[in-house]
Amino acid sequence: MILRWGILGTARINRRVIPAIRRTGRSRLLAVASRSGARAEAYASEWEIPRACAGYQALLDDPAIDAVYIPLPNSEHVPWTLAAIAAGKHVLCEKPMALNAADIDRIHAAATAAKVVVEEGFMYRHEPLTAKVLELVHGGALGTVHAIVSGFTFSLVRANDVRLDATLGGGALWDVGGYPVTYAQLLTGRGPKMVFGSAQWHAGGVDTEFMGMLRYPGGATATVYAGFHASLRTWLEVLGSDGALTVPNPFKPGIRETLELERNGRVETITVAGSAELFVREIADFEAAVLDGAPPVVTLADSRDAAATLSALVDSARDATALYPE
Ligand SMILES: NC(=O)c1ccc[n+]([C@@H]2O[C@H](COP(=O)([O-])OP(=O)(O)OC[C@H]3O[C@@H](n4cnc5c(N)ncnc54)[C@H](OP(=O)(O)O)[C@@H]3O)[C@@H](O)[C@H]2O)c1
Repeated sequence: MILRWGILGTARINRRVIPAIRRTGRSRLLAVASRSGARAEAYASEWEIPRACAGYQALLDDPAIDAVYIPLPNSEHVPWTLAAIAAGKHVLCEKPMALNAADIDRIHAAATAAKVVVEEGFMYRHEPLTAKVLELVHGGALGTVHAIVSGFTFSLVRANDVRLDATLGGGALWDVGGYPVTYAQLLTGRGPKMVFGSAQWHAGGVDTEFMGMLRYPGGATATVYAGFHASLRTWLEVLGSDGALTVPNPFKPGIRETLELERNGRVETITVAGSAELFVREIADFEAAVLDGAPPVVTLADSRDAAATLSALVDSARDATALYPE
C-alpha cells in the first residue's frame, strides 16, 4: 500500500522533506496547499505535485489524501493538527508540535479517538548517530550520567522571519531549543524536576538567545543553549562518573560522524555512518507506523515531555528578574 501525502504550506523546509517522501518507495506526494491559491499552483508546478489546493482545509477535505505533513509556523501546529485529525488524516507535524503540554493531551485524545497516527518531526531521532549515542550512554560506557551540555545556534538574518514573531510561536527556544532539551530527555529517560531559564528578548517579544538549566530526579543536570545570534553550531557533551562523550554534530548528522569517548585519560574515536539523505528515515518511520502499525519512534508522550519542559523554561525566563536594565 502507498501512503498518499498532502503538505500544508509552501515552507522552506519542504525542500528537504519532499525528496525524502519521494525516496522511500512507500509514499506518494499528491497535493500541496497554500493560503494563496496562486502560490499553491505555482508551487505544485515547480515541484511536480499533481494537486494544488487553495487553503489548507481544501486539502484536508480531499478524500484521496491519507496523511499530511505540517511545516507551518509553530502557533499553527496545534489547530491544523487537530483539523487534520478531524478530517481523518494521519499527521507528521514539524517540531514543536505544541507550545504547552495541555495541547498535546488534546491532540493525543483526538488521535486516539480517530485512530490516526500523529508524530512530531524530530528528524535526528531517526538517525544512526543518535542510536549509537544512546547505546553507549544507556549501555553504561560513561557510568552514571551527571551532566549534559548541549546547544544549537545559527545566525538569523531574515528580518521578517516567522521565528521573530511572538504571535506565531517564535523564539530561539521554541525553534532550536527543542533539540538539546529532547536529547537530554532521551539520555536521562525522564523529565526534569526543576528548570531555570534566562533569555535575551527581542522587540517582537521572542527570545533570541536562551540559556536553560535543568535538574533531573537522581541529580543529573543539563545545560542547554538556543540562539539566533552566533553562527551555525550544534554540540552535545555527556559527562558521566566513568567517562565523557563528545558529539560534535548531534542534530543534523552527516554521512560520517566521529564521536569522542574519553575514559581514564584515553580518547577513543568512534566513527558512525549516517544517512545519505536526511529526513528519509523519518518518513520511513512514519510510513511504518501508518501502514504496518509499528510504534513511531517519536511518541506523543515524548512530545508532551518536550512541550512541558520547554514551556516551563519560557515561564522561568519570563519570571526571572533583571538585576540591571539593559
Ligand atoms: N525539522 C527540521 O529540521 C526543521 C528545519 C526547519 C524548520 N522546521 C520547522 O518547520 C516549520 C516551518 O519552518 P520554515 O522555516 O520552513 O518556515 P517558512 O519557510 O517561514 O514557511 C512557513 C509556511 O507556513 C505558511 N504560513 C501559514 N501561516 C503563516 C503566517 N501567518 N506567516 C507566515 N507563513 C505562514 C506559509 O505557507 P503558505 O503561505 O503557502 O500557506 C509559509 O510558507 C517550523 O515549525 C520549524 O520549526 C524544522
